[in-house]
Amino acid sequence: MTAAKRRAAPRPAGRRAAGITPERLMAEADRARRRAYAPYSEFAVGAALLTRAGRVVHGCNVENAAFGLCMCAERTAALKAVSEGEREFTAVAVTAGAGEGSSPCGSCRQFLHEFSPRMWVYWRDARGRIVRRRLDALLPEAFDLVRAKGR
Ligand code: THU
Repeated sequence: MTAAKRRAAPRPAGRRAAGITPERLMAEADRARRRAYAPYSEFAVGAALLTRAGRVVHGCNVENAAFGLCMCAERTAALKAVSEGEREFTAVAVTAGAGEGSSPCGSCRQFLHEFSPRMWVYWRDARGRIVRRRLDALLPEAFDLVRAKGR
């Protein structure tokens, strides 16, 4: 199966919101962050994922007493979106607290790369400025099973 076929969404679902700027998507990530469950790290993270259909899906980090089970904000958003029929994303905004720059971790880069390697990734640097990068620039030579098998 080709990568494009794997990503083909059966049916987009939910609210639509078109023409979102990085600033607005970052504001959505700030809202998502309010729901973070991070009693162990005390590092609350929010993510807002923009689907090709124009829908914004929120995610926050969800921690657990068994630390290995902790889930990042970006993957929470992606799991929600994919489970609701969305497989194509145009951007994701990620935010931690004021003064806490937070680019997506390696696991989240790989996870999102599965669906939309060219999507935009926004986060704030430690001085509060929005940084914008393409996902495939943040994860060059990403693992791809189809490519690894040479098919
Ligand atoms: N975290 C995220 O939510 N996203 C990332 O990309 C990096 C880290 C969370 C995981 C954990 O709950 C907390 O931040 C501290 O690592």
